[in-house]
Amino acid sequence: MRQLSPVYRWARWRSFGVRKPRRLSAEELAPWVWELPREAGARTVGLKAAAAALPAAPVALNRIDWEQFYGNANPVEIEVGTGKGLFLLNASIARPGTNFLGIEIVRKYQLYAASRYAVRKIPNVKTACADAKLVLRDFVAVGSVQAVHVYFPDPWWKARHKKRRVFTPEFAADAARAIREGGRLYIATDVEEYFGVMTAIVGAMPCFELRPAEEQLAAPRTDAGFATNFERKALEKGGGVWRAVYERTSAPVTVAADPTEAENEGTSSD
Ligand SMILES: C[S@@+](CC[C@H](N)C(=O)[O-])C[C@H]1O[C@@H](n2cnc3c(N)ncnc32)[C@H](O)[C@@H]1O
Repeated sequence: MRQLSPVYRWARWRSFGVRKPRRLSAEELAPWVWELPREAGARTVGLKAAAAALPAAPVALNRIDWEQFYGNANPVEIEVGTGKGLFLLNASIARPGTNFLGIEIVRKYQLYAASRYAVRKIPNVKTACADAKLVLRDFVAVGSVQAVHVYFPDPWWKARHKKRRVFTPEFAADAARAIREGGRLYIATDVEEYFGVMTAIVGAMPCFELRPAEEQLAAPRTDAGFATNFERKALEKGGGVWRAVYERTSAPVTVAADPTEAENEGTSSD
């Protein structure tokens, strides 16, 4: 039998505090795992990568051909920071006519999510272990996806760590380029301050228009009362959840000013 690559070994899972899903081989997981081409390099994986600046030049030679990727021409939706993958588990089962890609920078979570989809043999969902900022910028063709979902992104409270946040003006611009006109950007968070930052960024972009009537479609609640693992934790703590949905308009993509920049000036850490 082929030797499993180290990233597929599950032995250390216990020490990560993540409940071990059913053990699957690399071959069994393969239909649910997209490995970035080599040219993307190792920097796309792990939280250190999230903190590093993206390479100035695009690292991808070719943008993803979604029809080839999924074997059909159904619309594609991307989730950024899938964690343990609960949202995509429910969404992909509920909406079999849509293809989903979950991008997660931490390998153990990506494999956890991929295993959940693989044991159920869900055909319309795949995962990638990568920095979503890089995937959206360099791998996703302009106007090729129907929606981008960003649920409960890490807040990175310390001022010196805020550069690790995934939702930056550049990220929002890359998401806008990726989303086709009429498509949607969905955001939800349990951190009011981060919600203010995200909505300030998107609100300053004419290529996005707020859709207040659709607010509850961001991380839509399931019968369990929550859409994602972090939403469950937030609700258990009695905290609030903030949601917003934006439609991609026909306006050109612009990069908003960074609302955290003024705040960062003169603050080295908290
Ligand atoms: C707070 S968790 C939320 C996970 C899930 N969305 C939920 O609501 O349960 C944020 C997730 O985003 C991932 N993440 C952080 N930066 C990322 C990046 N640049 N690209 C992809 N995933 C990222 C983290 O590893 C983590 O799993």
